[in-house]
Amino acid sequence: MQHPVHSSATPTASPSPKPLRPSRTRTGLAAACALFMAAGVTAVATGSAGAAAPGCTVDYKVQGQWNGGFGANVTVTNTGDPVSSWTLEWVYAGSQKVTQGWNAALTQTGAAVTAKNVSYNGSLGTGGSASFGFNASVSGENAVPTAFKLNGVTCNGGTGPGPGPGPTDPPGDRVDNPYAGAKVYVNPEWSAKAAAEPGGTAVSQQPTAVWLDRIAAIQGSSTSMGLRAHLDEALKQKGSGELAVQLVIYNLPGRDCAALASNGELGPTEIGRYKSEYIDPIAAILADPKYAGLRIVTTVEIDSLPNLVTNVTPRPTATPACDVMKANGNYQKGVGYALNKLGDAPNVYNYVDAGHHGWLGWDDNFSASAEMFKEAATTEGATLADVHGFIVNTANYSALKEDHFTIDDSVNGTSVRQSKWVDWNRYTDELSYAQAMRAKLVSLGFDSGLGMLIDTSRNGWGGTARPAGPGPRTSVDAFVNGGRYDRRIHLGNWCNQSGAGLGERPRTAPAAGIDAYVWVKPPGESDGASKAIPNPEGKGFDRMCDPTYTGNPRNGNSMSGALPDAPISGHWFSAQFQELLKNAHPAL
Ligand code: GLC
Repeated sequence: MQHPVHSSATPTASPSPKPLRPSRTRTGLAAACALFMAAGVTAVATGSAGAAAPGCTVDYKVQGQWNGGFGANVTVTNTGDPVSSWTLEWVYAGSQKVTQGWNAALTQTGAAVTAKNVSYNGSLGTGGSASFGFNASVSGENAVPTAFKLNGVTCNGGTGPGPGPGPTDPPGDRVDNPYAGAKVYVNPEWSAKAAAEPGGTAVSQQPTAVWLDRIAAIQGSSTSMGLRAHLDEALKQKGSGELAVQLVIYNLPGRDCAALASNGELGPTEIGRYKSEYIDPIAAILADPKYAGLRIVTTVEIDSLPNLVTNVTPRPTATPACDVMKANGNYQKGVGYALNKLGDAPNVYNYVDAGHHGWLGWDDNFSASAEMFKEAATTEGATLADVHGFIVNTANYSALKEDHFTIDDSVNGTSVRQSKWVDWNRYTDELSYAQAMRAKLVSLGFDSGLGMLIDTSRNGWGGTARPAGPGPRTSVDAFVNGGRYDRRIHLGNWCNQSGAGLGERPRTAPAAGIDAYVWVKPPGESDGASKAIPNPEGKGFDRMCDPTYTGNPRNGNSMSGALPDAPISGHWFSAQFQELLKNAHPAL
């Protein structure tokens, strides 16, 4: 797979940066002003009998109101399995803005408020509760919010079996966040390879995705598990609880048109075979009632649609293969067909690939790509309701969160956006990109409950070279380069990156709008061969995987930064796995 670069070569922005990023209201610990009882609301869950069902109730009370503001107290009760940390989210219908809070860390983006536990009240047993308070400004109506989510799960009856869907749940039996309250499938094949590596048992029980990267992967063979074998194993891992299994749908005609390393088995015109020999058989297996109790997360066609925006004529980054795919429409048709067919099963959760900030974070790529996602999701019978969410950073290396600079910083009057590294991008990291892309997609008509996934398998950038603080303010380049975690030579580099480490371990509802951090690219599997290696998989040799390559317009004509001696994409690459362990962040 791969991440053909992707920047727009020419900035279209004006030098005075107008950040699109939502601003955040900072709230700090403050003493509560004298509060008195006023109008309040108590939302009560009916609760479900199953012991493992996630759930919560919220009591949100306005305690006092004055001209232009109010104080409120919130008690959240966990009716599901014990949690060690919590995030409560709600969205205001009016103009309310949180100004200060206590006993929780509160932030607000637009109308969406996120309250996170503080150090002393994170752990909530089943039935346990925590209370916090805040002051806010308001003009006009001060309506009490009607829907809350605890760690991504809708409170008061929005999840799974039991009380039935809440107001923000999509139609059918789908839960809002398929990862909430669920284990995630550990692929035994990846797990065994990881465990066989020195030090590998530290991570070999982590969930990773199953890549259906060719027709034969559906059936499997005597040496590799097919789709049914994985789903049968998933049922065993599930037991009586909930389990999410992650599948990558990755076999479009003319696959990987801006790169060569992950070219696939289907030629540019073979959309018929894609449908009948690839998607239909997968859809038939997923519809087997035997698997109805699994939450099946599909990530749909990595590195495809945005290529039709960024790597086509007249862009300087155009490739002939992407021009062909743009002209024949088979990427949109394939994605639409997949979403429609797979989305027929009520337990399938489709997440469409939405690139990463180092590809689509430029203004001229961002909106056009979002529009392209909508086009594909309304093609071949698909509707926007077939899309549960989007995934970013799949198999890429973009840092989750750069702490030492933001897009709004400047040095001696020069914006961070003008640094060589950022190069007029609108985002500095994946978290801010994912949240902004989510908002953009909702504004285009995608479901307002859209959830994002971020692939954190290889974006840790830890180890001894990780900067401990910001760079010097001697120049904007010194500031950014001295402080950035992402230590790639260029943001457009994507193949077997030297210095990379394992990123955040997979976890549920880590931030507002994010369903989960996931490991979709299995750590240790190559991005592409460092030299031409004949193979029966259709994989080409992309010089971005050759450490001696000096680059092309898609990576600013920079060195590739790739590790040497890599096997073809998808094959086990021990040296890379060791590099990822060594540079893991958080450390192992
Ligand atoms: C690359 C390969 C694919 C493999 C995947 C996961 O995209 O082309 O065959 O399954 O990476 O490692």
